[in-house]
Amino acid sequence: MHVLKKVGVICFLAFFVLNAGLMLYFGRETFQVTSNAQQPPRSTYHFVLISEEVDNEYWRLVEKGAEAASRKHNVHLDYWGPKQANNEEQLTFIDKAIASKVDGIMTQGVASDTFSYLVNKSIQKGIPLITVDTDAPDSVRQAYVGSDNYLAGKLAGETMVKQTTGQQKVGIVTGRFDASNQQLRVKGFKDAVSHVSRIQIAGIGESNITKSGAIQATYELLKSHRNITAFYGTSALDGLGISQVASLYQQKKRPFIVAFDTLPETLTLLNKHKIDATVAQYPFVMGERAVETLFALKKGTNPGPLQYTKTDIITNLKGGH
Ligand code: BGC
Repeated sequence: MHVLKKVGVICFLAFFVLNAGLMLYFGRETFQVTSNAQQPPRSTYHFVLISEEVDNEYWRLVEKGAEAASRKHNVHLDYWGPKQANNEEQLTFIDKAIASKVDGIMTQGVASDTFSYLVNKSIQKGIPLITVDTDAPDSVRQAYVGSDNYLAGKLAGETMVKQTTGQQKVGIVTGRFDASNQQLRVKGFKDAVSHVSRIQIAGIGESNITKSGAIQATYELLKSHRNITAFYGTSALDGLGISQVASLYQQKKRPFIVAFDTLPETLTLLNKHKIDATVAQYPFVMGERAVETLFALKKGTNPGPLQYTKTDIITNLKGGH
């Protein structure tokens, strides 16, 4: 009995030691697997891109470009913006980004004192801030990445001069009266046609950067200026609204239309000869370059305050006006 008890204790101890050994061995293996597992590399910086309107097709292209460059530099990117264009909300997003202590801010420029105040605040807190798409040269923003909007407007005006003959009464549909990129596009256009007496501006309406707003503005312009023969739309969805009204209106001859941007629907209308020309901007490149510029600023180099991206004019020469 005594012997049996001893054997039992020995067996139990042997079993216990074996188990403990196995546990240690496999435990270590498991632990090593976890420690060797690929951890996602830590982001270098946290940047925020703030747009005029978060779901606007044009801004989504800027976001895509910014994403591409962020991936390259392992930057964590946030993209924010109002649901519908609204300066106050946009400014609140900038303030929120500063309060979140991000490493850099890219935002559409807003022509207001509050914007300048926020840019100051950001720079003072050591957060570089650059403007994208629309500049705010009166603020202390460190750089601007985007089109030369005055030149872009001039291109549109020169196209109107080159591609039309005879008297033209032009209706302008602009994104927002208080957006400085839109103001520059209108000014560039007016300057380009000012020396040509056969081209006159009939009136100007605001679309609030939506297609429905552009439809409304076009109707109103046509209602109060029945003699309009040409239209110029200065933001990405304006040409679409203008064209929709123009084709419904069933005029003997549809108006000559110069649009802005190269969103797929605009290019389709151009190919179908429903729009005569459009000013091409490069929103993807803007996003990409904005991140590159912010990244360079973080590394202590300044690529220069004015980073203009290209603008081109794409025409449909069969328009014949
Ligand atoms: C402008 C942007 C604007 C967008 C609206 C573009 O042409 O560059 O500032 O937000 O149109 O659709």
